[in-house]
Amino acid sequence: MQYRTIIEPFRIHSVEAIDFPDEAARRAALERAGYNLFMLHADEVIIDLLTDSGTGAMSAQQWAGVMVGDESYAGSRSYYKFRDVVRELTGFSQVIPTHQGRAAEHILFAVMVDEGQVVPNNTHFDTTRANVEYRGAEARDVVIEEGTDPDALHPFKGNMDVEALEETIREVGSERIPFVMVTVTNNSGGGQPVSMANLRAVREVCDRHGIPFFLDACRFAENAWFIKLREDGYADRSPRQIAEEMFSLADGCTMSAKKDGLSNIGGFLALNDPEVASQCRNLLILTEGFPTYGGLAGYDLEAIARGLEEVTDPDYLRYRIRSTEYLAEKVNQAGVPIVRPPGGHAVYLNAAKLLPQIPPHQYPAQALSVELYRQGGVRGVEIGSVMFGKPRPDGTEEPAPMELVRLAIPRRTYTQSHIDYVAEVIIDVATRAEDMRGYRIVRQGPWLRHFTARFEPL
Ligand SMILES: Cc1ncc(COP(=O)(O)O)c(C=O)c1O
Repeated sequence: MQYRTIIEPFRIHSVEAIDFPDEAARRAALERAGYNLFMLHADEVIIDLLTDSGTGAMSAQQWAGVMVGDESYAGSRSYYKFRDVVRELTGFSQVIPTHQGRAAEHILFAVMVDEGQVVPNNTHFDTTRANVEYRGAEARDVVIEEGTDPDALHPFKGNMDVEALEETIREVGSERIPFVMVTVTNNSGGGQPVSMANLRAVREVCDRHGIPFFLDACRFAENAWFIKLREDGYADRSPRQIAEEMFSLADGCTMSAKKDGLSNIGGFLALNDPEVASQCRNLLILTEGFPTYGGLAGYDLEAIARGLEEVTDPDYLRYRIRSTEYLAEKVNQAGVPIVRPPGGHAVYLNAAKLLPQIPPHQYPAQALSVELYRQGGVRGVEIGSVMFGKPRPDGTEEPAPMELVRLAIPRRTYTQSHIDYVAEVIIDVATRAEDMRGYRIVRQGPWLRHFTARFEPL
């Protein structure tokens, strides 16, 4: 192209109005919500960057698919279409639909993970960690050192530390490791990609020790685009070819179709082992539904099948990754500390660096996310010690390795002016960083406390 501006590769076909609550309304909403942004009503939010999960805009083709969904309980035509699309993309023979990613995790882990085992992952996503721990197993993060340093510049900060993986296997014994998992891209580590060379190295270690290898594939297409941009030998390969190669290195995957399935709901578990798949299907019937719908409507299966094909379009991925980078560049050039380089689906603000006066046990990233909402109606999410702090026996907490606010960008939803507004809000809030104070938790649940905890300002 002759021009530098990378435009949204779509025209807007139907629109959804945004509400503009004023500051007094936002303050009142915060109090009611116990300063937990998950507890806000979505209508109280101006720009919603809480998650990129299920919040994207579907294409006209996907909506057309919704109209031809086959709602048969068993043997739905839409299931076979979905199955074939997943098989062709991933190469995995057994395709099990689920209502979202964590259901695939829950079913796979219930079948494969036992008490006292250890599951290594580059970085477990929160639901993945919770599902491993729910089985009485340990969820161990073995990401490369650069992956936990927000300032370290590395093209593939999501890479697994292969040495640390070997060490874990030596320490624990391969019989106590049901599988190794790699999350692409590494959401909890900043949306950072994993290189093909790293996936190959993990495969090699798994082969040597007879351990299965699974991908948490939620953002496989964004990961493929980073490989195309950054890894030697892939510049001329299509994102689809790269994605196929990534999947070819694994024995199976869990997937949330709410991300790179470009759909509002759905997920799947895909794998090669027919015996494990058969046990998973038995559990699926108990918890999700019959194996040809797995908790989804036929129209959802149609939307996902089309989404999985659209998502590897190079024009889409070029725009997608550039729009995230655009926000990151704007705020970083204004001096706001972020995780660099920016990841695929989100910009991560480094609250620990911006708010050095707030110690981890007073949740600096929670304080920053509340302030972004109060000032500008922008909703992000804390990815720090609220989400990942670990209780110690003495009642204190081991802090998370990083204190981040994730601003996740829904797919095909916001335009450049929305993103310009978000940048303006962030930069404005950052100028008042010194005045900000921390929070304490006044109520929390036993699992995934960040969803329901209530806070009080200190
Ligand atoms: C890396 C990763 N794994 C798993 C999940 C869980 O998927 P779901 O929200 O569809 O249950 C998510 C969701 O955000 C994720 O980002």
